[in-house]
Amino acid sequence: MRVAIVGATGAVGHELMQVLERSSLKLDELLLYASPRSAGKTLPFRGQDLTVQVTPEGTIDADVILASAGGSVSKALAHRWAQGGGVVIDNSSAFRYDEGVPLVVPEVNGPEALKHQGIIANPNCTTAIAVVAVAPIHRKYGVKRMIVSTYQATSGAGQKGMDELLEQTRVQLDGGQPTNAEFVHPIPFNVIPHIDVFQDNGYTKEEMKVAWETHKIIGDDRIRVSCTAVRIPTLRTHSEAITLELERPATPDEIRELLSAAPGVEVRDNPGEKLYPMPLTASGKYDVEVGRIRQSLVFDGGIDLFVAGDQLLKGAALNAVQIAEYLQEQGALKRRQTA
Ligand code: A2P
Repeated sequence: MRVAIVGATGAVGHELMQVLERSSLKLDELLLYASPRSAGKTLPFRGQDLTVQVTPEGTIDADVILASAGGSVSKALAHRWAQGGGVVIDNSSAFRYDEGVPLVVPEVNGPEALKHQGIIANPNCTTAIAVVAVAPIHRKYGVKRMIVSTYQATSGAGQKGMDELLEQTRVQLDGGQPTNAEFVHPIPFNVIPHIDVFQDNGYTKEEMKVAWETHKIIGDDRIRVSCTAVRIPTLRTHSEAITLELERPATPDEIRELLSAAPGVEVRDNPGEKLYPMPLTASGKYDVEVGRIRQSLVFDGGIDLFVAGDQLLKGAALNAVQIAEYLQEQGALKRRQTA
């Protein structure tokens, strides 16, 4: 089995290699691609140095192509890469809302992946992390309304985002004036309620992605979703405060019990012991931490909770590899016949 990573030198690409090292995927060969800037560079994988090549503009001869080089690259080239019969698992937003392109979080809607026609979309990081906790609640209690406030790490803007936080924090501590390139304002010692572009309705695209993608992944567009997405000066892991109005009332104990058995979730909820989800503890972890589970003071029988999930892992690289693992488990990684 041959796997390719497009965008291997980026932040998600780095995580993809780490996750693949530990993955159950039966992988014989790994191909690494990036921009011409990185051609010839070597990256270590399973004790070998693999050479990065220029991303092909045509077919990629691999069974699985994990793409994380941005939306414009995917939009232009992903269909061509898939011409070799392999499946492209795309981390960008280029195809997420296209009919015929499954949008998959394996714990929630794995079987959707089997319907692909060459491309599977990996969800927006904030949504992937939220639905791991919200989908089991929806199945048992029916979510009517979902109100989300996010605390999103700089890793959401890739390696350059994390570099900007570190470098500009140093500049500010040394008495200088921080500047910004990846973010719309300086990020050190700041929070920025503006991620992606503003839409006509006053919400940002990042906020609308949470609504659109929650509907597509959970498969129920009756859930009313409202999100405020905020960038904060942390390196990795997105945190989210989520309020749920439910069709059938639930108690915090019932939700704790339900989520303790949910795949991909770690219930971390003991305020007396100062245990709750945080980037400090969730970073590097495969499971999404869920805690601060309490009865809503606004919606009768509703629930408030707080989640923290590693944006580069469950929000990106891990979820992509889990999709490939799911396809393999289902015997669905055979190359397709293409015209
Ligand atoms: P490169 O390192 O050669 O620029 P991040 O999201 O962390 O910024 O990473 C983006 C990834 O996408 C990097 O691996 C980057 O390669 C790659 N990339 C950016 N532009 C292109 C392009 N036009 N063609 C192929 N890969 C690209």
